[in-house]
Amino acid sequence: MFKYPVYQPLLAGNEKKYVNECLESTWISSKGKFIAEFEDGFKSYLGARHAATVSNGTVAIHLALLALGIGPQAEVIVPTLTYVASVNAIAYTGATPVFCDSLKSTWQMDPDDVRRKITPRTRAILAVHLYGQPCEMAELVKIAREHNLFLVEDCAEAFGTLYKGRHVGTFGDIGTFSFFGNKTITTGEGGMVVTNDDTLHDRMTHFKGQGLAKYREYWHDVIGYNYRMTNICAAIGLAQLEQANIFIAKKRQIAEWYRHELKGSPVIFHAEVGDVRHSYWMVSILVPEASDRDPLRSVLRGQGIETRPLFYPVHSMPMYSSSYQRHPVAESLGWSGINLPSYPGLEEESVKEICAVIKAYFNSVADPATEGK
Ligand SMILES: Cc1ncc(COP(=O)(O)O)c(C=O)c1O
Repeated sequence: MFKYPVYQPLLAGNEKKYVNECLESTWISSKGKFIAEFEDGFKSYLGARHAATVSNGTVAIHLALLALGIGPQAEVIVPTLTYVASVNAIAYTGATPVFCDSLKSTWQMDPDDVRRKITPRTRAILAVHLYGQPCEMAELVKIAREHNLFLVEDCAEAFGTLYKGRHVGTFGDIGTFSFFGNKTITTGEGGMVVTNDDTLHDRMTHFKGQGLAKYREYWHDVIGYNYRMTNICAAIGLAQLEQANIFIAKKRQIAEWYRHELKGSPVIFHAEVGDVRHSYWMVSILVPEASDRDPLRSVLRGQGIETRPLFYPVHSMPMYSSSYQRHPVAESLGWSGINLPSYPGLEEESVKEICAVIKAYFNSVADPATEGK
């Protein structure tokens, strides 16, 4: 048990009350009033035309790609600096993930590299808004239009993130979300797909419910999936959604505390860049030398402070490295980044304590003679 875990959800609203309603009414499966209430609330919050609940953020991406008809022969461009699920979901369809590098300034996919990776087989771009900072959406939308590509946004880490005043997930053809326990709003396990397109919404709800035909009971006209969310999860999700603005404001406050406390230290803070609202899913830093990353994490661990390494670039993992190419920015970020405790219940005094350990580490590295004095 860590004194300061990287994450722990805050379940202090109507979660218990709504879950009890599910239990008392016996609506515990994927039918029940909270499903529609959560979907309606979510789409209004985002400003999207449709939202459909699913069982997690990985199948949300798979479902989006299925609805877009992505399959074998297709290539989908995806940043290598992402959680492995973004890439696996492409592989599930039989399509080939084509990796692109990241921008040093924002850590998001590099639009110039996206252009370089387009081939006659490219069908879609999967933009991932990593750690809560948005991708350069104006550029990505332009590229998708110019090359007639679908644009899917993986917003698993970016609920509440704004780009030019608009919620991420509403720029592309489909936006996908995760509500795992460490996400900005959670349902335990869960996800959502959003779209402004009636046909795509229809196709996604069709695939997620076993491909059930609309015109005959127990008749299925495609090979579908069971990607449904339970009413219990939706009940938790609705209660979390009611507190979304509080969580986002608190996470931005926490990020500001860290930024302030780490000023003057050699770490590089994951900044908010451009006309955006970074939702700071995970407050993240880079250490100046990759060789400092693991020793610093181990010092923090010794003080009861849990951290995570930034994602390792997926193109370097064994199952995706057969046509290895260098992605220097993503590789450099992946080996020198750390996610710090970022949960909404974290207090300012705790952030100060965590930052004091980080600063002391760098002081001891800069001047080993003072260590232990
Ligand atoms: C960028 C990204 N995409 C997809 C996922 C998958 O979401 P889930 O864990 O709900 O399947 C995650 C989750 O953690 C993620 O960080």
